[in-house]
Amino acid sequence: MKNITLVSLMILFTNIGIAQITGSKHDFSGNAWNTSGQICIVCHTPHNADLTVATAPLWNHDITSVAAYTLYSSATLDATVGQPGNESKLCLSCHDGTVALENFGGTTSGTNFITGSALVGTDISDDHPISFVYDAALAAADGGLHDPATTSSGLGSTISDDMLFASRMECASCHDVHDNVNGMFLRINNAGSALCLTCHDK
Ligand code: HEC
Ligand code: HEC
Ligand code: HEC
Ligand code: HEC
Repeated sequence: MKNITLVSLMILFTNIGIAQITGSKHDFSGNAWNTSGQICIVCHTPHNADLTVATAPLWNHDITSVAAYTLYSSATLDATVGQPGNESKLCLSCHDGTVALENFGGTTSGTNFITGSALVGTDISDDHPISFVYDAALAAADGGLHDPATTSSGLGSTISDDMLFASRMECASCHDVHDNVNGMFLRINNAGSALCLTCHDK
């Protein structure tokens, strides 16, 4: 009994230390449509990567070709929101529901699409705005935002360094696809709305 408990504890600590994507909803190693049995390969490849999206990290998944998403707007929005930028297109290549999950490594004939609450769709007007420049000028214009260049994210550096992509807000500003420690792949635990309050001065 003692030994079994020790082994369980070791497995637990190993998972906490190094395996945050393992067993998460982005671990497709056990899905029937992924015969490789691997995790990373659904999204990345060490060679012959897809260069359709500039700045993509060794990308291996078929990329969405949707050109015109319905964008967020409101009477008080100060940012100039554009069509999804590079990093967000990578997420939308599964989450807009137009590209099959198993379409990676050159496959384009898949039939398994994202469903349920994880389906973001091509109308992103009901989602937090993405794909715009968030800088000191926007913070000043808005009056209720921290300056991302000088405000700590709590993750080691500034909001700009840790959460923005070339100064732009994208899906991965709030999410880390590889790390489910906070649930929902959130970069910052949102208890007490800590994620929101990192950027919003409310
Ligand atoms: C479901 C898709 C998906 C899976 C599976 C995945 N990644 Fe990623 N990865 C992404 C996306 C999207 C980005 C770009 C956004 C970002 O940087 O957060 C990225 C970025 C990266 C980066 C560069 C940025 C960084 O975080 O350092 C590395 C390195 C990386 N992934 C390694 C891996 C490894 C290793 C695995 C397997 C253990 C893996 N990824 C599995 C989607 C995925
Ligand atoms: C290879 C396809 C793929 C890519 C690329 C991908 N996802 Fe996902 N993601 C999924 C699937 C499939 C699910 C839902 C799995 C389920 O419901 O069992 C999911 C679930 C999620 C969830 C919900 C997690 C939960 O616990 O309910 C979040 C949040 C998420 N993804 C964010 C992202 C973001 C942000 C990106 C890009 C940075 C991204 N994903 C890229 C396929 C993908
Ligand atoms: C400003 C921060 C922020 C941005 C930007 C953002 N998300 Fe999220 N997302 C969240 C939070 C917070 C949750 C968890 C909500 C909850 O717990 O109900 C979430 C939840 C999700 C879920 C799970 C929904 C569910 O109910 O199962 C998915 C999928 C997702 N996000 C994908 C994306 C994608 C794709 C993008 C870019 C198009 C994106 N997110 C941009 C903060 C963000
Ligand atoms: C990485 C920084 C960041 C995070 C994290 C973040 N936001 Fe935002 N959010 C912004 C920026 C920048 C804008 C654009 C504000 C503007 O231009 O008026 C924005 C816009 C909004 C808007 C629309 C404002 C309008 O005038 O239409 C709301 C509402 C909002 N965020 C709520 C949230 C909530 C709730 C959370 C947490 C779940 C959150 N945000 C997390 C940076 C962030």
